[in-house]
Amino acid sequence: MRLFRKKLKQEHKIMLQAERASGALLPEYHRPTEECPHPERWHMYDSMTAEAEVLEFIQTLVMTIKPNLIVETGSFLGASTLWIAKGLKANGFGKVISCEFDPVVFAKAKEKIDASGLGEWIDLRNESSLEMTVDGTIDLFFSDSDTPIRASEIRRFLPQISPNGIILIHDASSHLKVVREAAFALEREGLLSCVFLPTPRGLVVAQKREGRK
Ligand SMILES: C[S@@+](CC[C@H](N)C(=O)[O-])C[C@H]1O[C@@H](n2cnc3c(N)ncnc32)[C@H](O)[C@@H]1O
Repeated sequence: MRLFRKKLKQEHKIMLQAERASGALLPEYHRPTEECPHPERWHMYDSMTAEAEVLEFIQTLVMTIKPNLIVETGSFLGASTLWIAKGLKANGFGKVISCEFDPVVFAKAKEKIDASGLGEWIDLRNESSLEMTVDGTIDLFFSDSDTPIRASEIRRFLPQISPNGIILIHDASSHLKVVREAAFALEREGLLSCVFLPTPRGLVVAQKREGRK
């Protein structure tokens, strides 16, 4: 009888690799781009989790703008969620709602968050960003789910995002074209003002235009 080996989903493969690496930092290995010709100067835990420097930047941003409500799409193993939560803990208030669509990945993220001692700052949900509902005004929105749906999830949550809030859109490098194009399109439509930070995978720091004073 012929045996078929089930193809591992990318997220599950990287999850297993991340477990084996057990938190070791590697030089970033995404390919050089015109805007970021030396990716090896950055660090990464794995190719799904945001660059280590980006994680630190997000924590600092949380401590800088002191948001009440943060929404993150795409928790993966909860690394960015935990860096956000560290910022919230330093602030002493606020919460992050983070959604992870994949149930296997969600279970692993939940395990990590439960063991972290930071659970009180985190509302982790096994939902899609295209279906999840959130109450209240969002002060910081971190878009980090599946690349083809980023524009849809940003449009979906835009009415709830504060005009004083910040929108972070990860994976917007010129090599990962789809997100960069989505950010340009949202800007052309007059919905967002974007700054493109030249990190290996690209990070857009944006604000919505409607309601700015
Ligand atoms: C790039 S990883 C997130 C990395 C994480 N933010 C970090 O930096 O530690 C993207 C994750 O989004 C999840 N995902 C994909 N589509 C989604 C959706 N519609 N809603 C929520 N999560 C989704 C994937 O399963 C994957 O775990």
